[in-house]
Amino acid sequence: MIKIFNLNDVISIKDFQKKDIEFILKEAENLEKVARSEETSEELAGKILGMMFFEPSTRTKLSFETAMKRLGGDCVGFVGSSVSSVSKGETLADTSKMFESYSDAIVIRHSLEGTAKFITDVVDVPVINAGDGAGQHPTQTLLDLYTIQRNFDKIKGLNVALIGDLKYGRTVHSLAQALGMFDAQMSFVSPNELKMPKEILHDLKKDNVKFYETNKIKDIIDEVDVLYVTRIQKERFPDEEEYKKIKGAYLIDHDLIKGKDLIVMHPLPRIDEIANDVDNTKYNKYFKQAFYGVPVRMAILKNIIRNKI
Ligand code: NCD
Repeated sequence: MIKIFNLNDVISIKDFQKKDIEFILKEAENLEKVARSEETSEELAGKILGMMFFEPSTRTKLSFETAMKRLGGDCVGFVGSSVSSVSKGETLADTSKMFESYSDAIVIRHSLEGTAKFITDVVDVPVINAGDGAGQHPTQTLLDLYTIQRNFDKIKGLNVALIGDLKYGRTVHSLAQALGMFDAQMSFVSPNELKMPKEILHDLKKDNVKFYETNKIKDIIDEVDVLYVTRIQKERFPDEEEYKKIKGAYLIDHDLIKGKDLIVMHPLPRIDEIANDVDNTKYNKYFKQAFYGVPVRMAILKNIIRNKI
């Protein structure tokens, strides 16, 4: 078998080359029928995915679980450190070792940046980063790209606005780097306090990726193909008073977008940044985006677990 996908772990979107991403998106498309339960698969029969979620999760955890089960595999794990022996003082390294002996790959979400990378040095099974603090969320980015590609049949040349908490939002960090690889044009819309980190802007400039920064949606609304909206990440603010000053900074409602030729995406959960009156319109792609987490994560699991066989 020719190994097209050569990654052993999925830690940062920067570990991917464009061809790896394209390969996963293609695989995901082939797996959509299985994701929808219109076809069945036993490709990962007998395999177990270990899930270490130290932070809350709905979509990421459930779509990984669904993906694994639709491929004939199974999952073990926990959400919240209070239910594991970490609460008794067990180290992350020891807990990871246990997961290594019970499962064929590990998905980890943690509030500290660098945690997923850290455990790759501790275990021999593949590790997938499901979000490390304000760091990266590479599998979310793959499903975001998949959503864009499914909608427009291309990514190149599209104008994508990333809106909200660009400082602490890990989804937008990974996504900005990936969109750079695909020659999309980007606008970064945030309050001044929550701008895209300098290191990411620096990388984009180095790669000659064009982007525009503003704090006003009206500056970009007539130009964009995709409004990628994010939640202000309350839990990452060192000072809650700072959060209170900024919360509710943006609201995407039907009035703002009606008549425009664009789609609205959001990694979810949304709090108050997209009004419910967008839900039943053609602009709403955020629920579909959440479903696409299943075929995309199937593609990742299939290739990453198979790589080790
Ligand atoms: C995001 C996350 O956890 O980073 N959610 C997700 O995985 N779909 C976004 C968020 O929590 O705001």
